[in-house]
Amino acid sequence: MSSIQVVHSIDSCRLAVSKVRAQGHSVGFVPTMGALHNGHGSLIAAAVKECDFVVVSIFVNPLQFGASEDLSDYPSTFQQDCDLASTLGADLVFAPDTTEMASSTSLTTVSVAELSQRWEGASRLTHFDGVSTIVTKLFSIVGECKAYFGEKDFQQLAIVRRLAADLSLPVTVVGCPTVRTESGLALSSRNSYLSESQLQDATVISEALYTGKELIESGETDVVQIEQVITARVVQAERLSLDYVAVVDPTSLEPIDEVEGEVRLLIAAAVGETRLIDNMAAALGVVSNG
Ligand code: PAF
Repeated sequence: MSSIQVVHSIDSCRLAVSKVRAQGHSVGFVPTMGALHNGHGSLIAAAVKECDFVVVSIFVNPLQFGASEDLSDYPSTFQQDCDLASTLGADLVFAPDTTEMASSTSLTTVSVAELSQRWEGASRLTHFDGVSTIVTKLFSIVGECKAYFGEKDFQQLAIVRRLAADLSLPVTVVGCPTVRTESGLALSSRNSYLSESQLQDATVISEALYTGKELIESGETDVVQIEQVITARVVQAERLSLDYVAVVDPTSLEPIDEVEGEVRLLIAAAVGETRLIDNMAAALGVVSNG
């Protein structure tokens, strides 16, 4: 049983955080939708290492689910989540209720224009506005902090960095490396929807990215060629349905023609009904971590 403090209202979260801040303590913040896995664990561990007081929010945000995406299917493991956050040294779980957090009478949407429209945004039209709106609200509740996000959701990370900068929010956004299984599959709450054989199939996604990364590191600069090689690797695995493969600028996420310096490889593919995304850093002639 965890002993971590759990609060549900916005006021109680504000009060708890403002008390520790008044004592001169630094605040770390890990926003989540629950169903915590070791990827979230690595964010909490990083926050605990760098900050005096760590808040983990658990809120399944209805605003970021499209009409065809079933919010009620989203996995929920609240008590286990609190136990993990507590074991890792977090201090406060903020688990707001939906009426207060995403009121149906709210008229305000935060939208990070171009960055939200490509890639994931092209097939999940309102997704990033939902993320941006709720993350901005969470930042306004927690206040000045270091906020930890996984590189696994690379487009989300780029959008959150941009909204914090554009709105001059007192938040330092920290990106943390993707955590993978031994077979290379990026950890994701959605992996819980996959059967054993689908989990095997899904490893092709990271294998394809590693192939692209190695190609770049061995000197290939032609993006068409790199994207073809990655695509071929996924298409060979017949049980995957590829949405996109892209080699992009790591900040703007704009597609590029020629690799110069560091780039990001992005991929989205469905395994059965489950859509998975992954990404990796690569740079010409440099062997770096994904
Ligand atoms: O990455 C997530 O879990 C969610 O998109 C976030 C950042 C908690 C916003 O709801």
